[in-house]
Amino acid sequence: MIRSHVIGSGSALPARRLTNEELAAEYNLDTSDEWIVERTGITQRYFAGEGETTATLATAAARKALEMAGADASEIGLIVLATATPDNTFPATATQVQQALGCNGGIAFDVAAVCTGFLYAIGVADSMLRIGHAKKALVIGAETFSRILDFEDRTTCVLFGDGAGALVLEARESGEAQTGVLGTKLHADGAHCDLLHVDGGPSSTGTVGKLRMKGREVFRHAVVNLSSVLKEVLEETGVSAAEIDWVVPHQANARILDATARKLGLPMEKVVVTVDRHANTSAASVPLAFDTAMRDGRLKAGDLVMLEAMGGGFTWGASLLRL
Ligand code: UT7
Repeated sequence: MIRSHVIGSGSALPARRLTNEELAAEYNLDTSDEWIVERTGITQRYFAGEGETTATLATAAARKALEMAGADASEIGLIVLATATPDNTFPATATQVQQALGCNGGIAFDVAAVCTGFLYAIGVADSMLRIGHAKKALVIGAETFSRILDFEDRTTCVLFGDGAGALVLEARESGEAQTGVLGTKLHADGAHCDLLHVDGGPSSTGTVGKLRMKGREVFRHAVVNLSSVLKEVLEETGVSAAEIDWVVPHQANARILDATARKLGLPMEKVVVTVDRHANTSAASVPLAFDTAMRDGRLKAGDLVMLEAMGGGFTWGASLLRL
């Protein structure tokens, strides 16, 4: 059976790192390192500076992923880029990455599912690879949420950071080892779109707008939705939670990671946690965490890895793959 296999990963962070104290001082916020660490697990985040954009971060992550894959940009026939903070309303940031990498001529487009964007991108790219639209794809999650934060709202501006992560997927025979993407489940429920949204856009206000979130309510839905979609993927693939080697979750809040792992009966030692260092980087958080664990040697060939995310919309999803 033809399946999509991860053959490389890469990530990129902006140059500028801000600790909780530095953030509070710079924006004169009525908050503390203690509150942020206790409620979220976040100790620092990276913010894009001059010349750093979603496209430049995405391109840097893509280059590293191609290098790890030993693939040339010319081999990439498909780029699916998940972002809620594109450089421009159009063209798609994916085409800007395509131009920067010099692999013009294939397919390139963005998907918008906010923090679940990378899972949607994996789902779309996997389907397209399996039906033969391309042999190799770049699947990217890239964000510059610092540019849509309201720095007068301490309930949201301390939570997010910027960054990008990328995977190179290759369509090839899965064989007896049952490698590659084994199953993906995606969901959306527009009934909750007001709980996490941006209050502007090209067609509504003609402005970019700022992020607004009712955190406590999002938290509640996140744990329920994530546990349920993880169970769906396990059922569909016939895999038990105990067989999972690693969970690479969306990094919104350390308490959500804890609660979700507990619901599945998974020890935290199997969960890749980067929210402390990167904060919530929306669509970039899963591939950033994935690449961190690839490069420090935790993720190895043969491992069963579960990816999961939940975000604005609401949208949520999970994907199980064997490396
Ligand atoms: O990525 C997409 C998905 N997003 C998420 O999954 C985010 C989900 N939500 C969360 O992670 C958490 O709900 C937050 C981290 C956003 C908030 O944590 P919480 O434990 O739910 O806090 P809360 O909103 O219930 O606020 C508790 C208190 C409030 O004060 P009072 O009303 O109890 O006096 C807030 O005003 O903490 C206050 N507060 C702060 N205090 C210091 C809120 N933000 C801050 C802050 N510093 N930055």
